[in-house]
Amino acid sequence: MAQIIDGKVISNQIKDELKAKVKEYKDNGTEICLAVIQVGNDPASSVYVGNKKRACEYIGIKSLAYELPEETTEEELINLIEQLNNRTDVNGILVQLPVPKHIDEDKIIKTINPLKDVDGFHPHSVGALSIGQKGFVSCTPAGVIELIKRSGYDIAGKECVVIGRSNIVGKPMSMLLLRENGTVTIAHSKTADLKAVAKRADILVVAVGKPKMITAEYVKEGAVVIDVGIHRIGTTDSGKNILCGDVDYDDVFEKAAAITPVPGGVGPMTIAMLMKNCVDSVEIQKQ
Ligand code: GUN
Repeated sequence: MAQIIDGKVISNQIKDELKAKVKEYKDNGTEICLAVIQVGNDPASSVYVGNKKRACEYIGIKSLAYELPEETTEEELINLIEQLNNRTDVNGILVQLPVPKHIDEDKIIKTINPLKDVDGFHPHSVGALSIGQKGFVSCTPAGVIELIKRSGYDIAGKECVVIGRSNIVGKPMSMLLLRENGTVTIAHSKTADLKAVAKRADILVVAVGKPKMITAEYVKEGAVVIDVGIHRIGTTDSGKNILCGDVDYDDVFEKAAAITPVPGGVGPMTIAMLMKNCVDSVEIQKQ
């Protein structure tokens, strides 16, 4: 029977630690400010942005909200980011993704000053991570590391398998596990005999984007299993969403040493780590 790694509890611990640090900064005259930009009104994005604002309020970070219409041009968005880049009272800039199709996402990410890139998506941040330099780390993979460490598992020397190679999760995830001295394999949709590869893992991080794909057959007895996926697979009679991850939780539960549930595992960590990046921005901007 697996230990359940509770992302709500761990993310709340992190938020409380950050709240204390923000208070210290404030007492010394430093206020932290995050600018959040949303273009259009995609309902899922509005929920995420609302959660980010609430987390800022809780921790004591000032948040500036820019809700721009769907028709906003790329040039207008770039102008706004450049203004925010130049403002000394703004520490972090986040453009909620996805942006409307007429806007080039890569160009927008590259416009954000890397010293304010609290999402960790800028090529500078990605490069800094891969060569072990100071910089912002993408929030979801950073949250996974915290979940593993704060649940009492060592990464050093362990066989770590990451399934998925996206720029936002799989790639930074593998760099972070490597930074923690794990022995890292990146598996993906073209990997031959994925089951055998996954089964090598002491620490298995799954970000494939396929509901319940990872069954017990992919998991070594006693592995730590982290599920980054989240899928809505239906609604209850009372209209509540039924969610699941990339891992078949019930099937894997008996075999793993520890597992993250969906919801309530990795999900709550992303915002906690965004808040951590905002707090860390003060030091990063002293460079
Ligand atoms: N859209 C979904 N997740 C994220 C995220 O972590 N950051 C941004 N900027 N947009 C997102």
